[in-house]
Amino acid sequence: MKELVLTIEDLNVVYGTKTVLEIEKLMVYQHERIGIIGNNGEGKSTLLKAIEGRLPEGKGSVNSQIEFSYFDQLNHTEKPMNGEVNEEILSRFSVPDYSIEKMSGGEKAKYNLAYILSEYKEGLILDEPTTHLDQRSISYLIEELRFFYGTLLFVSHDRYFLNELATKIWEISDGKVKEYSGNFEDYRRQKDLEVMEKKKTYENYENQKKSLEKSIEKSKQQVDKLTQNRKKNTKKQIKPSRLSSSKQKDTVQKSIQKNVKTLEKRLSGLEVVTSEGNEKHISFPKTKFEMLHNDFPIKGDKVTLVNENKVLVEDVDFQFEKGKKIAIVGENGSGKTTFLDAILEAKEGISVSSKAFISVYEQLAYQLNHNESVITYLMNQTDYKEAVVRSILHKIGFTQNELTKRYNVLSGGERTRVSLALTMLRPSNILILDEPTNFVDLRTIEALESLIQSYPGTVLFTSHDKTFIQNTAEVVYEISNKKIVRINN
Ligand SMILES: Nc1ncnc2c1ncn2[C@@H]1O[C@H](COP(=O)(O)OP(=O)(O)OP(=O)(O)O)[C@@H](O)[C@H]1O
Ligand SMILES: [Mg+2]
Repeated sequence: MKELVLTIEDLNVVYGTKTVLEIEKLMVYQHERIGIIGNNGEGKSTLLKAIEGRLPEGKGSVNSQIEFSYFDQLNHTEKPMNGEVNEEILSRFSVPDYSIEKMSGGEKAKYNLAYILSEYKEGLILDEPTTHLDQRSISYLIEELRFFYGTLLFVSHDRYFLNELATKIWEISDGKVKEYSGNFEDYRRQKDLEVMEKKKTYENYENQKKSLEKSIEKSKQQVDKLTQNRKKNTKKQIKPSRLSSSKQKDTVQKSIQKNVKTLEKRLSGLEVVTSEGNEKHISFPKTKFEMLHNDFPIKGDKVTLVNENKVLVEDVDFQFEKGKKIAIVGENGSGKTTFLDAILEAKEGISVSSKAFISVYEQLAYQLNHNESVITYLMNQTDYKEAVVRSILHKIGFTQNELTKRYNVLSGGERTRVSLALTMLRPSNILILDEPTNFVDLRTIEALESLIQSYPGTVLFTSHDKTFIQNTAEVVYEISNKKIVRINN
């Protein structure tokens, strides 16, 4: 017998005019590993918060037989207050032993994960736990979670991670949760079938509609013809002997008209089926581009970078070509962010063209925690007029009602989108993007890919997302063993 550990009933969460969650009933059994997926802002984190009782606004009942440990999506900056952190886990994650404020984004996340994995509770809630993690750490996390004997609820946009762990998928869309058994691949298969079914139903509907419309059109033409003929005949003053045939025509005409009515009724009675493709499209604004003539706007000569007495790169030379899309990869803590910062500060040995205008997306931009509405925030940060900012926000997925949403209630993906838009709104000829794919859903990743591809200047970026790098980078450099080495072409 499967043991029921959690029941959620009649859960409703409404923010402003938006119904975020509208759930009738969900049940979770012991040993299940449920992967929660869905577009940004659909309510994944909200659902997890509701389960853990962190949502005073939520209406409904959450009945839990077990206690959960909780890994927050947006806050990895603080050192957990109490409890010991298992040394072995820390070392398997390669977390350094200095204070958390000095750690890299990935190290901070791993420190918090290690803390959570050290305490034993029967339930684990992980909200996007692979954010910032390098491949090795992700593999280790998967291994740890496979050994976990309790109940796991987790949110992820990472298909590999979902495939390796999920025994069930919850897809959140329009406030509803749909359950699919199996891992992500199984979900995809079921989803493909659903899409095919829908397509068939749609085609059926279209065919029926067309044939009804055709019949109506034909009948109407017949009626028109009859009417015209009659008018002609009246003009010609037909003889009384033909009166009877005219009467006959009248009956025919009436019966056709009746037929038209029946057809029209059937047409309007057809259950309307719409085709797929109501996905909201995301697109980022184009930057105001400043010309740059220098062929190698960024150069390094015998550069050494040290962080917390740890030498990250030593004596390296590099030059980054104008207009190239360049990825910087490397394990957590290898020095990617330090390297990008060094360029921004033109540290010793690094020269940056005086005509370079660099616009930056910072790795931890989402941790900004202020109270301004998104529209005020973007207006304060740029010189654009309200109308322009409105249309930009609209293009990155904010509806009319959401423009006045405060920044600190935005979901992770929504925050990333706002920060990326801001990066694009600043005039530039070089973009530096530090992990711009964190938290964002597939359609946003695609928008970001086309942004990078079409950007006329140089783009330097970091990412742990292989597909994203493949789709965007012309050149890939890896930081490892204190060197920066070109690893493609
Ligand atoms: N306190 C709040 N007030 C108003 N709106 C809120 C509040 N909290 C969350 N929201 C909104 O509710 C929606 C759902 O947020 P949630 O964080 O659950 O999304 P998510 O599915 O986890 O998204 P992501 O993939 O970006 O993490 C978002 O549009 C968010 O802006
Ligand atoms: Mg979330």
